[in-house]
Parts: sequence; structure tokens; C-alpha cells
Amino acid sequence: MTTHDSGSAPDSAPKPPAKDPWDLPDVSGLTVGVLGGTGPQGRGLAYRFARAGQKVVIGSRAADRAEAAAAELGHGVEGADNAECARRSDIVIVAVPWDGHARTLESLREELAGKLVVDCVNPLGFDKKGAYALKPEEGSAAEQAAALLPDSRVTAAFHHLSAVLLQDQAIEEIDTDVLVLGEARADTDTVQALASRVPGMRGIFAGRLRNAHQVESLVANLISVNRRYKAHAGLRTTDV
Ligand SMILES: NC(=O)c1ccc[n+]([C@@H]2O[C@H](COP(=O)([O-])OP(=O)(O)OC[C@H]3O[C@@H](n4cnc5c(N)ncnc54)[C@H](OP(=O)(O)O)[C@@H]3O)[C@@H](O)[C@H]2O)c1
Repeated sequence: MTTHDSGSAPDSAPKPPAKDPWDLPDVSGLTVGVLGGTGPQGRGLAYRFARAGQKVVIGSRAADRAEAAAAELGHGVEGADNAECARRSDIVIVAVPWDGHARTLESLREELAGKLVVDCVNPLGFDKKGAYALKPEEGSAAEQAAALLPDSRVTAAFHHLSAVLLQDQAIEEIDTDVLVLGEARADTDTVQALASRVPGMRGIFAGRLRNAHQVESLVANLISVNRRYKAHAGLRTTDV
């Protein structure tokens, strides 16, 4: 075993056969909401999921802004204020800036109860040297979401996507893996399946929320890559 392999001591007790990690649920009937869906990331995700046939509602602090953005996106996307967006959705993606993250989630605790929440927020700072990772008190944006939403099923995903590529209607496939983190296998499977609805995209399980900080922070490195190579870099996980 190499030092980075996971593994436990051999066990003589018979184990049930491991579930195929690519055996993911059908999520095509689920409604996807996007809080902060009027921004580039929210619009881009909404566009990709709606184009793949998913029902999508984008949220905003102002319903009219969401409705206007939804009309621009087409593909049946609807707009509502963030609370209504949360109420109407099965899966709710959090795509607000880190600055407004805690306050937004606190205010929607009731509407988000029982929902599958997907946090894609990257807590970053920017200075003359470029982007750098902030260190949230709770460990990560995703763990802050989990602490603020005890009645929701919180996962983390979609951190490493380029909003520019997502929104570019001429691009058919989004060539990237999506690292998905969470505490419950059924929930991470659902988010992986959602990611995999987008042509070219693949959802990969990447651990529990306590490891979300590295995933969120890696965006600072991708921003450096993008600046140096004038690119919109994504990620691929090899050998899976
Ligand atoms: N841009 C990317 O390429 C990218 C990629 C991966 C992940 N992300 C993450 O996705 C999130 C959104 O990114 P973005 O570039 O789309 O951000 P953004 O444009 O700055 O914000 C998204 C939307 O959030 C709402 N908003 C702004 N300030 C807010 C506040 N204080 N409280 C609540 N809502 C607020 C605004 O919508 P209304 O005014 O309509 O409410 C805005 O359109 C960020 O956390 C970012 O880290 C971004």
C-alpha cells in the first residue's frame, strides 16, 4: 500500500459486495434551485442544468432580477426570490459570494430544511499577489453551511468550474470533473449524478465536509493557472 492509499486492516468477516461507485441515481425529475443565481456562476450552472433537461429555478434577493436573468437563460429556467427558490427546489445550490454566505443561509434555514444543499462557495481573498484562500472559522464555507443548516443535507461541489465556459452557449461539453463532498452517500451520489447530467462533466466523490477547505482553497491555485496561461482551467482526476 502506498502512503496515500486508504485502507483498513484485513477483516475475516464476509462483507457485502461494494456498490459500484458509478451506479448513480436518476435525478432527471428533481428541481434544481440556485441561490444567488443572477451571478456568473449561478447563471452558468442554471444554464447547463436546464440545457441538460433539468427543471431549474434561480434565486435572487430580488425576484424581478431573478425573473429577468431566467428569461435571458431560456430553456424553461424560472426566477424567484431566494426563499421561494429554496421552497420550490429539491436540490439547492448556494452560489452567493462568501461575504453574504452566512447571512443568506441563516435567513433561509426554514426554507432549506429537508433540502439537499450544495455549497459551491470559495472563500478567497485577493491582493496584489493574486488570489489566496481565507480560513473560515468553521473550517470551510461548506462546514459553515452545515453548522447553520442543521436540518438540511449539506454537500459541497462545483467549486472548480469556469463561469465563463459554463455560460458560453457555443460550448457543447464542459470538460471537467466535479469533486463532490458530503456526509451521506445517498446525497453525494445525487450530486454526482447531477454533475454528470452535463455533457463532459463527471461527478467524483472526494470525501467528507471536513476536507472541503482544500477543495475550496484550490480555486486560488486555478486562478493563478488561469492568469498565467490565459485559460479557464478545470480538473481531471486520473485513474478513476
Ligand atoms: N465565478 C466563478 O467562476 C465561480 C466558480 C466556482 C465557484 N464560484 C463561487 O460561486 C459564488 C458566486 O460566484 P459569482 O461570481 O457568481 O458571484 P457574484 O456575481 O458576486 O454573486 C452572485 C449573486 O449573489 C448575489 N449577492 C451578491 N452579494 C450578496 C450578498 N451580500 N448576500 C447575498 N447575495 C448576494 C447577487 O444576486 P442578487 O443581487 O440578484 O441577489 C449576485 O448576482 C461565489 O461564492 C464563488 O466563490 C464562482
